[in-house]
Amino acid sequence: MFTISVPASSANIGPGFDSAGVAVSRYLTLEVKEADKWQFTHTTATIPPVHDYHDHYIYKVAKQVADWQEETLTPCHVTMDSEIPLARGLGSSASAIVAGIELANQLCKLNLTEEKKLDYAVKIEGHPDNVAAALLGGFVVTVKMGEEASYKKLPAIQTDLVVYIPNFELKTEDARKVLPDKFLMKDAATASGVSNLMISALLTGDYELAGKMMESDLFHESYRAKLIPNYFDIRSEARKLGAYGTVISGAGPTMISFVPGGEGKSIATQMNNLLDNYEVTALKLDENGLQVKNNAPITEQD
Ligand code: HSE
Repeated sequence: MFTISVPASSANIGPGFDSAGVAVSRYLTLEVKEADKWQFTHTTATIPPVHDYHDHYIYKVAKQVADWQEETLTPCHVTMDSEIPLARGLGSSASAIVAGIELANQLCKLNLTEEKKLDYAVKIEGHPDNVAAALLGGFVVTVKMGEEASYKKLPAIQTDLVVYIPNFELKTEDARKVLPDKFLMKDAATASGVSNLMISALLTGDYELAGKMMESDLFHESYRAKLIPNYFDIRSEARKLGAYGTVISGAGPTMISFVPGGEGKSIATQMNNLLDNYEVTALKLDENGLQVKNNAPITEQD
């Protein structure tokens, strides 16, 4: 019937805490076919099978959206492939939410607008930074005030990315527990100034300055650094190799460097030689976000 593809995402980008997000070139893919009853098949060994489809997260999201729209889902066989590691700070749950919303959108022919999809995604995820990037692609700045999320996608950022994925999981709630409850007004003013300058440097293509601001975050990086082995080494070694800036991806434990375009693979190879127990990979920003492809029906000749 159709294929849904959603990129992974990296939230915060240093000072854009709970606000900025970037879509990255790893994907969750659902191949959806009409069937008599619901079935989910996982082709990725790291994602355990779910025996009762009612318990499948993507089904639950799709059902929730169908209920909100007072529609009924028709049964399908969904084959799911994921390149996004779980609980590593690469937005696996945001990608699943966006995929589930699109599944309902397609099956119930809802014609949801981008705004409505984001509205539902934020309702389910609770914060907009990952879901907006996964939905829209590219570098997206968001803010949630009360129940309403607003967003703006930046023009394409011309950098490569290198991600450092450690071999352990870190739950967002644990990474939020280490953050302070309160922030002094003068520190908040400086911290938001750092974020503003990072965004304006990105908009004007001054990636050196953007990278410096990424590494000057005051909101969360210093508190979370202790949860990530090699945090300071990864930053300084990546900088020596030409990275503009290296930050925690979302709530961690993955870290991500913004590096000059065309240099991602070479920097990733050199960083890989320095780090044990990390998967180090060059990625690109994904500018497309959520994609749906209608599959051609199989004919007799095929
Ligand atoms: N902005 C969130 C955080 C992203 O840093 O806690 C993780 O969900």
